[in-house]
Amino acid sequence: MTARPQSDVLLGVNVDHAATLRQARYRGRHASAHAEPSPAAFARESLAAGADGITVHLREDRRHIQEEDVREIAALAGVRLNFEMACAPAMVAFARALRPAAACLVPESREEVTTEGGLDVAGQPARIADTVAALAEAGVEVSLFIGPDAAQVEAARASGAPVIELHTGAFAEAWGTPAAEAELERLRQACALAHGLGLVVNAGHGINYGNVRAVMTLPHLHELNIGHAIVSRSLLTGARQAVGEMKALLRRR
Ligand code: PXP
Repeated sequence: MTARPQSDVLLGVNVDHAATLRQARYRGRHASAHAEPSPAAFARESLAAGADGITVHLREDRRHIQEEDVREIAALAGVRLNFEMACAPAMVAFARALRPAAACLVPESREEVTTEGGLDVAGQPARIADTVAALAEAGVEVSLFIGPDAAQVEAARASGAPVIELHTGAFAEAWGTPAAEAELERLRQACALAHGLGLVVNAGHGINYGNVRAVMTLPHLHELNIGHAIVSRSLLTGARQAVGEMKALLRRR
């Protein structure tokens, strides 16, 4: 086996949208034997293709990933699970029982969101610090999903979380326009600040096959979490085979 170069950035594959597709047909019946696609099967394929981790977001409204999905994915051989969750008591209890390798605190209610769309850590320091401590006590490595804002990075450091995930959504939205470079520069500065404070720096949201090389120019990146673009591309890369298999089943002989 060839050794991975030191500089490689890890890939966390977010499989939420495999569940979105399943729920579009099987909402309320996701446990049915016919329900597809399976997020766990998508996770297994991702790991076979070299994914370094699998991310799922169990939303309080359960709009895509279900608790059964999380348990099934957590049980996959060799998986490093990153569990995205709201900063809410029921989710903390679920995560403490599940004990994933990592948990990423994300905003779900409007009051928790900063202008960048990340978690407002600076605006609720005690609540975040308590959640970080409760998860860390269960052996879970906690990251905070925050915008590229110095005050949020500093608040994340003060919370006791060892990791941040920088929200790349504003950059992704600006991609292809003159505003993209300024967004990239904000991310660059946030990466440098976080690294200087001793935080591990991940990033995610809206990263795709077109903009990822620009994201890769950011310093000190440890891991990128990518979901929508990978699930979307897999529909196209798999379409010929899927149609071909169905055509074969329609043959009369
Ligand atoms: N990181 C976090 C914290 C997320 O909540 C999400 C999903 O919105 C992602 C990364 C992946 O984003 P995308 O599906 O746009 O790649």
